[in-house]
Amino acid sequence: MPEKLLEGKVGLIVGVANDRSYAWHIAKAITDHGGTCAYAHIPGEKNERRTRKAAEKVTADPWLFPCDAGSDAELDALFDAYKGQFDRMDFLVHSIAFAEREWLQPGKFAETPREAYMQAIDISAYTLAAMANRAKGMMPAGGSIMCMSYYGAEKVVPGYNVMGVAKSALESTARYLAAELGQQGIRVNSISGGYLKTLASSAVGGTDVFDEHAVTRSPLRRGVEGGDVGGTAVYLASDLSSGVTGETIYVDCGVNTIGV
Ligand SMILES: NC(=O)c1ccc[n+]([C@@H]2O[C@H](COP(=O)([O-])OP(=O)(O)OC[C@H]3O[C@@H](n4cnc5c(N)ncnc54)[C@H](O)[C@@H]3O)[C@@H](O)[C@H]2O)c1
Repeated sequence: MPEKLLEGKVGLIVGVANDRSYAWHIAKAITDHGGTCAYAHIPGEKNERRTRKAAEKVTADPWLFPCDAGSDAELDALFDAYKGQFDRMDFLVHSIAFAEREWLQPGKFAETPREAYMQAIDISAYTLAAMANRAKGMMPAGGSIMCMSYYGAEKVVPGYNVMGVAKSALESTARYLAAELGQQGIRVNSISGGYLKTLASSAVGGTDVFDEHAVTRSPLRRGVEGGDVGGTAVYLASDLSSGVTGETIYVDCGVNTIGV
């Protein structure tokens, strides 16, 4: 194991559904580097059980709190509860997204109803600003906020549809937050992860070809693994990235760099 980069750092991870979640790989990498992770999960007994089971694989006796990020009251309750338990937040990981599966199918974008569009942007993008606003008071000596994006923010990926729009909003939200919170020493960055089979990605139609595409066409000739993103999250949470903010960092084995 290389030198531990996050010894003494503590923070909140939002988005561990199970041990395949990007957030889980991030929590594991942060914990392996000596950091302490607290967890927020979507409400419901089954969801709590699943998140707890996954969190226990990396954190002994993990601190968990339920939160539907679509509710301001639940966000307040989460950050208040965190404040009652921990004296500061060195890092915040936003790894959540939601859009109705029906609108994540190739050829369906133009039909997206207003409500589904607004919900996708609300849960997948606005919540980053909502969480950063609640976290900033707990980062008096600075901190690192990161979120998970995808290439569909920048280029059209069939089936990604309204989630692509939401990811564009998410990356832009991260930049505006970075500009505003930078004076407090808080850095905000997006990690644009490659395709990984998870609950969320299984909702997107047509992803069966993504793995093959990564293996045959990416510079590294393989699909991304959770640990690739975990390593970048450690870098972003650590002082090694002290001059990095407002960026979108691709961790996709180079898939985004290939044109034809
Ligand atoms: N899997 C991929 O291929 C891929 C690629 C790039 C980016 N991402 C992004 O990574 C992030 C994590 O997704 P994942 O692939 O690990 O899937 P996942 O299903 O494991 O995680 C998604 C999480 O979002 C949470 N969530 C959804 N609605 C919520 C709400 N209203 N309140 C609170 N939490 C809510 C879910 O509970 C779940 O924990 C998402 O932002 C996703 O868009 C995924």
